[in-house]
Order: sequence, then C-alpha cells, then structure tokens
Amino acid sequence: MREGYCLGIESTADDFGVGIVSFDGEILANVGDAYVPEKGGIHPREAARHHARVAGKVIAEALEESGLKPKELTVIAFSQGPGLGPCLRTGATAARALASYLNLPLVGVNHCVAHIEIGRLINKVEDPVTLYVSGGNTIVAAFEAGRYRVFGETLDIAVGNCIDVFAREAGFESKGVPLGRIIEEKAAMGRNFIPLPYTVKGMDLSFSGLLTAATTLLKEGKYKIEDLCFSFQETIFSMLTEITERALAHTEKKEVLLTGGVGANNRLKEMLKIMAEEHDASFHSVPKEYALDNGAMIAWVGVLSYKCGVTTPIEKSHVKLKWRLDEVEVPWIGG
Ligand code: ATP
Ligand code: FE2
Repeated sequence: MREGYCLGIESTADDFGVGIVSFDGEILANVGDAYVPEKGGIHPREAARHHARVAGKVIAEALEESGLKPKELTVIAFSQGPGLGPCLRTGATAARALASYLNLPLVGVNHCVAHIEIGRLINKVEDPVTLYVSGGNTIVAAFEAGRYRVFGETLDIAVGNCIDVFAREAGFESKGVPLGRIIEEKAAMGRNFIPLPYTVKGMDLSFSGLLTAATTLLKEGKYKIEDLCFSFQETIFSMLTEITERALAHTEKKEVLLTGGVGANNRLKEMLKIMAEEHDASFHSVPKEYALDNGAMIAWVGVLSYKCGVTTPIEKSHVKLKWRLDEVEVPWIGG
C-alpha cells in the first residue's frame, strides 16, 4: 500500500511536462509537449501560449498513463523557478487551479534541485558532484550543510546556448534534431585543433569570448568546419571538466552526476568519466527522458518536500524567475 502520489508540472522554458511519482519513488507517468519555434530561439510569450493550450491535455495524458484518478493524488508540485516568466506563470496557474479544485496541498519546486534529485533517484546515486548543462543553465553543484551549494557556474551565457548560437551561425538549422548533436557529429570528424579562448575564472566559466572567436573564424572560412567544431567542443568541455574536477577535489565526494541536454554528448561523458576515475569517483549520466526538462523530476521533489512537511501556501506561490539553487533548503538529506 503506497502512502501517496504527487503530480508535478514543469514549465520553465519550452517544455510543458507533467509527471506523477509515488511517495516511494516509482515514476508512474512522465509526459510532455514541447513548443517548437518556427525559427531561432524560443519566444517566452509564444511558449507560454503553447503551454496554456496544451496544459489540460498533458495533465489528462499523465493521469491516464498513471492509471490513477485525480482524487487519488496527494499533492501537486510545480516548477516555481528559475525560468522564463510567462512560461513559469502558466504552469503555476495550472498547478494552483488543480490544487484548489482537488483541495490538495501545493509545493513550489526549484527546477535545478529537481534536475539533481531525479538524477540521484534514477541512478541510485547518494551524494554526487553534479554538472547540470543545458540551454539555460551551466552549474556545478554539490550538497553541503543543508543545501546544494553552487561550486561553479557561467558568468555569462549557458553552454547549450553557446553551442546553439554557434551552430546557427554555421547554418545548421534543422527541426527536431538538437543543434548540439549536429556539432557533436561534425566534431567527431575533426582532426586539427585550433586554439580558442579558454576562460575559467576561479571556479566559474565564461563562454562569450569563445563564442565570438569561434564565430569570427567561421566567417573567415579559413578552417574546415569539422576542425572548428572539434576545437569548439574540446575547449568548452575541457572548461566544464576542469571546474567539475575542482569541485570534486574540494568536496572529496565519490560520485559525479551529469545531467541536462548537453549531457547527451558522448565526448563530454568520456572526458568526465576519465576525470572521475582519476579521483576514484564513479561517473553517472542521466537518460534523456529525465535529463531534459520533465514533469517527473518536479513531482519527485514534490514528494521529497511534502514528506518533510514543506508545502507552499497559495499566497507564496508566485514564480521566482531567478531563484538560485543555493537558496533552497534541502531537509530530506542528512539529519
Ligand atoms: P533548461 O531549462 O534546463 O535550461 P533547456 O530546454 O534550455 O533547459 P535542454 O533541453 O536540457 O535545455 O538542453 C538543450 C540543449 O542541449 C541545447 O543547447 C542542445 O543543443 C543541447 N544538446 C542536445 N544534444 C546535445 C549533444 N549531443 N551535444 C551537445 N549538446 C547537446
Ligand atoms: Fe532544465
């Protein structure tokens, strides 16, 4: 007999996702509908309109997949931040409506905490140094004294954004295939390393100089695109591996967890695995279904929070566009 179920809504950016997770960590549903822009990057208000349009349908799909009736749910969770305002507000509105209609408690979840927690659940990892790399985030984090501390992060653009801008400059627009994967395929055919700006400042990173330099070389047309992609990737992933290694050495943790869309990259996985093994640490990556934005991760943190007595009253359920990972108390770990 299970104690309960949480339905979680994710809507920080282009995905509207709904997951249902039992209190003992079984994922009963994880479905979503992504907004795909006609061209270029995402437009927050258009994405929010998309979310409003599909919300009812995706919630119904999740319930159907779980085999549960709405009245069997125990708690409703939603991504409260960080993210794009219009998108977050749409998800929050759906969550509030559902919670008040079903008369259930609400839990506002930090999106970055959710990425880490679903990775821990899926991989049965205890206490990792996590590298979370996506279109909007670049963070190295680890648990210390009640919170996930940020050991390193980008000082300007996120790594996925950097990769996507470069890929578009190179003319690699293709619907459905992630731009990072196209770069990865080209890079695998590159042989010659072209030096590019490598910017690690303490534990933090900067990608804008590297992006400008790589784009300039691209336009000059002097080098083969394969060599440029290879050098671009090697430089970016070396920077990411360096700061992850520093956090690992500092914290002396024994696990490395890679998540987020950029974490699908095989070369990045390989570099991190070698580095982790040199520190006698195990390396874990998260399968795509749970590494990309998804509702199950929000539902799971809803469960963890609710079990510790943490809920979010409606009057405190406003979205937090810049909610930092290290502002969140994590009472479900340690004692
Ligand atoms: P978040 O809200 O967490 O920032 P997001 O929707 O912006 O999420 P994700 O969907 O997690 O980001 O990841 C998308 C990014 O992952 C894109 O920048 C994409 O190019 C990149 N990506 C996908 N596959 C690969 C790959 N094989 N190699 C490198 N990057 C990849
Ligand atoms: Fe994310």
